[in-house]
Amino acid sequence: MERLQKVIALSGYCSRRKAEELIEKKQVKVNGKLITEMGYKVNNTDLIEVEGNPINEKEEKVYYILNKPRGIVTTTKDEKGRKTVIDLIKTEKRIYPVGRLDYDTTGLVILTNDGELTNYLIHPKNKIEKVYVAKIKGIISKEDLKKMCNGIIIDGKKTSKSKAKILKIDKKTNTSLVELIIHEGRNHQVKKMFEAIGFDVLKLKRESISFLTLDGLKSGEYRPLSIKEIKMLYGEKNKY
Ligand code: URA
Repeated sequence: MERLQKVIALSGYCSRRKAEELIEKKQVKVNGKLITEMGYKVNNTDLIEVEGNPINEKEEKVYYILNKPRGIVTTTKDEKGRKTVIDLIKTEKRIYPVGRLDYDTTGLVILTNDGELTNYLIHPKNKIEKVYVAKIKGIISKEDLKKMCNGIIIDGKKTSKSKAKILKIDKKTNTSLVELIIHEGRNHQVKKMFEAIGFDVLKLKRESISFLTLDGLKSGEYRPLSIKEIKMLYGEKNKY
């Protein structure tokens, strides 16, 4: 017997957190009965339906890496009808993005239907490194970065330690280019970290997640992950 939200996540339908949300929103049935209890246990003969769709534990897993352009939302469906990252990828599988990038942020997004790997990659305790490059308004100093990287309060909670370096200072346009490496994934985290030390982010790009980079992918392009890359991601996972 396994917890319902875990089985939904393992099926690849969505992440465990999303599954909990769907249970709360009364979108999950087991053997035709609506389930609202979070710890509900199921076995492999139970028929689970999420948002009216029966879930299939044995669905083949697929993995993509996308170079997200600006002006695209990182969800599976947008209430305002805007284009989503899913619209950019040709697949019959029900994939979803691992973590989020803002509408105006560009760069690396992983998409998959592998709930187990998703949970691993987004959980802060696993310390998966994400590298961002931010163009910010104003001239930043090493001292500013030190303050930010030692941990700074955003939304009432201190961020964990991060690393940053100045890539370029442009006095003419009064802007700075900074590389920031974090392993958390809080909402608008990078923008809020810079805001907390008095700088606005003008442009933001995610350059890498763990060992995956955007090499060879132009804006809007994507490719499936290789078996070796998938194994390496799982390898990271199995280290712990
Ligand atoms: N941090 C942000 O502020 N925005 C993103 O899109 C990603 C990280």
